[in-house]
Amino acid sequence: MMDFDGKVAVITGAASGIGAGLARKALSLGMRVVLADVREPELTALAATLGGEVLTAPTDVADPESVEALADKAYENFGAVDLLFNNAGIMATGFSWTIEPERWRRSVDVNFFGVLHGVRSFVPRMLKAGTKAHIVNTSSVGGFLASPLMAPYSVTKFAIVALTESLRAEFEIIKAPIGVSLLAPGPVKTGIFNDPFGAMVEPGVQSFVDDLRSMLTAYGLTGDQFAELVFAGIAADQFWIIPQPEAFDEAYRRRADDVLARRTPRLPRLE
Ligand SMILES: NC(=O)c1ccc[n+]([C@@H]2O[C@H](COP(=O)([O-])OP(=O)(O)OC[C@H]3O[C@@H](n4cnc5c(N)ncnc54)[C@H](O)[C@@H]3O)[C@@H](O)[C@H]2O)c1
Repeated sequence: MMDFDGKVAVITGAASGIGAGLARKALSLGMRVVLADVREPELTALAATLGGEVLTAPTDVADPESVEALADKAYENFGAVDLLFNNAGIMATGFSWTIEPERWRRSVDVNFFGVLHGVRSFVPRMLKAGTKAHIVNTSSVGGFLASPLMAPYSVTKFAIVALTESLRAEFEIIKAPIGVSLLAPGPVKTGIFNDPFGAMVEPGVQSFVDDLRSMLTAYGLTGDQFAELVFAGIAADQFWIIPQPEAFDEAYRRRADDVLARRTPRLPRLE
């Protein structure tokens, strides 16, 4: 288990929602924190509300050079990175066949390549340092349970699960001192369905998005409540950090049963 005090955390997608909650929690534990986000004004505004050692790094995780610059900045300023949250992610809604290729590509670039660029830029530096480190890749319960009307999200979140399992096994093979967690949030009250840049809501699926947004508002944890659960998972060195069993366990069991019985999947229920 990692002693957080004085250690360095890098958080992508830190300006809002879960990322901002993780930043506040990390600082409360005495960590030094690098906040990375593509939305610079929001990043600066958040940093102004935080006490402690905070560095902001405007970053587009879809761009490998931008993530490389983030890693350089973190190591130059703090000399180490002990905990990396590959957290940035965007929603895209619509029918699979009407979502434009560029919207599909942006989802893959941010959600999947964003995590991969984080791995590619930080792992070599962590291995070189040789000290204990930990990486948390954010998927979703949607990374295990595919949803209609948001296929770019489901596809990329499934990919993160696979990448993270591969990564963990590779660290085991080379006996790297790097822990890995796959984080799968259920509903958390954040801006994921509001962000005009990220949400890219397609006309015709507005009621679906409205239902999901109401579900987040009705049942979602706050970013701060969620961050508590995430840090408890890291402290316990959990690989699968899936802190909301009510949003996952039964549905995942039903899915596994369906696959094993060769039964056609049923439409997921919006609770
Ligand atoms: N909120 C939920 O219910 C929920 C559920 C499951 C998974 N998640 C996942 O949690 C993570 C955080 O999302 P959130 O709910 O806090 O949403 P959010 O929209 O509130 O925050 C996401 C942040 O990522 C940033 N971002 C977007 N594209 C970026 C890019 N290219 N480079 C850098 N930063 C970028 C946004 O500017 C924003 O600040 C995402 O990966 C999301 O898929 C959220």
